[in-house]
Amino acid sequence: MTVTIVGSQLGDEGKGALVDRWGGDADVVVRYQGGDNAGHTVVEGGEEYKLSLVPSGAVRGTIGVLGNGCVVNPRTLFSEIDGLRERGLDPDVRVARRAHVILPYHRVLDGIEEAGKADDDSGVEVGTTGRGIGPTYEDKAGRRGVRIGDLLDPDVLRDRLEYAVSHNRAVAEGVYGLDVSDSEHAEAFDVDALFEEFSKVGERLADDGMTVNCSDFLHRRREAGDRILFEGAQGTSIDVDHGNYPFVTSSNPTAGGAAVGSGLGVTTVGSGEVVGIVKAYLSRVGAGPMPTELDGDDREESLADDIREKGGEFGTVTGRPRRIGWLDLPMLRHASRVSGFTGVAINHVDVLAGLEELRVCVGYELDGERIDTVPTTTQRWERCEPVYREFDTWSEVDWTAVAAEGYEALPEATRTYVEFVAEETDAAVYAVGVGPDREETIELANPFETSDA
Ligand code: GDP
Ligand code: IMO
Ligand code: MG
Repeated sequence: MTVTIVGSQLGDEGKGALVDRWGGDADVVVRYQGGDNAGHTVVEGGEEYKLSLVPSGAVRGTIGVLGNGCVVNPRTLFSEIDGLRERGLDPDVRVARRAHVILPYHRVLDGIEEAGKADDDSGVEVGTTGRGIGPTYEDKAGRRGVRIGDLLDPDVLRDRLEYAVSHNRAVAEGVYGLDVSDSEHAEAFDVDALFEEFSKVGERLADDGMTVNCSDFLHRRREAGDRILFEGAQGTSIDVDHGNYPFVTSSNPTAGGAAVGSGLGVTTVGSGEVVGIVKAYLSRVGAGPMPTELDGDDREESLADDIREKGGEFGTVTGRPRRIGWLDLPMLRHASRVSGFTGVAINHVDVLAGLEELRVCVGYELDGERIDTVPTTTQRWERCEPVYREFDTWSEVDWTAVAAEGYEALPEATRTYVEFVAEETDAAVYAVGVGPDREETIELANPFETSDA
């Protein structure tokens, strides 16, 4: 039994809230891609947890696994675990020995590459989270990465570092003109200092019994009858293959990533449920096209400001204000096809309450033609003009009371909106989010309780 949670848009759809909601019915929660670029929020009885690396099931006491598809910054991992312990939780986190390690020089390279793009005004700056995600996946694909398993063997670690550091140092100096030995970043490229720190990381991981052969571990847990919840990070439109390249992250948040990034077979993931998490409007941190962005005139900008304030749309990881737009159905249809959604959860309908107008982009006009899904190139997507359909708005209500009563208590206009989205994505509505708290998610179906999950 598996349930895979996937971001349908541009990240920050409220995945953490649904992982928490259904995490109580799971035995293991698995992150299968990304790293501490993610920021997942869980709110339980007013208590808020922001998780970057520790799987969101931790708040429920579920075992968390960081799969082989993840890139792991041990500094973040340990500080997050320690922080949760201070708050009275006892997270049980396992890390795949095949997962790659984010090393300090990856973060330096992420920063200088982005700064370089910004300086030369080339328009290709992505607005990354600066966590070293891209450079770490580059090293992985370039066969010079350091894996969690390498940290456990000092001889191997030293060899891997010698090679990886010399390469990355040459890039920093030769391509970006960074005087490594003379800069504040010297330690990040110093093999001895890195060896010293990361061999100790290996010792802590070993002492705490945290490393696993992920595929084998999950396979056994499944054979023993465990329920597995996959926690996607980021979202479909920033997937390195299916998103709007190059304004993407460097991994596959889409459902296929769950198989590759964990070592469970595609038939296992595919015979379970795949739930697309949808924000009832759009938010985006970072650069890239966004046809429905509310930035056309003062009126749109003030509407975006209102939604941003009400929805708390500021990046969990970087604090950047998120860009705001109307819901984009071509984007959602694409997401549903790529991941094969069986269900959707639609969050943040409370944030849209009280608006004077409510629009949904139902298709695009591109060069005089009507299209219904996202074009393959960023240049074409940028030229798309949204075709809107107006929806009736709904008023502010007592959302906590509505959540307690259930779906039928939602305003009729909200139900019309939600059902339209589900129909267009060809998926059933599993949940509707009317607020951040666990109790503010209205559940229509628990994906673990559908017949073949
Ligand atoms: P994630 O990265 O997909 O897990 O989402 P984030 O945690 O980065 O951002 C979602 C934000 O919206 C968080 O602050 C959540 O607590 C909050 N949230 C989640 N669902 C809802 C909802 O239905 N309504 C409101 N108002 N906030 C929500
Ligand atoms: P969660 O899991 C929203 C964005 C960054 C940038 C691009 C590449 O919380 O939904 P990266 O640091 O990954 O190389 O940045 O991707 N991005 C996110 N946007 N939510 C996220 O995660 C994101 N993780 C990365 O802003 O545009
Ligand atoms: Mg987030």
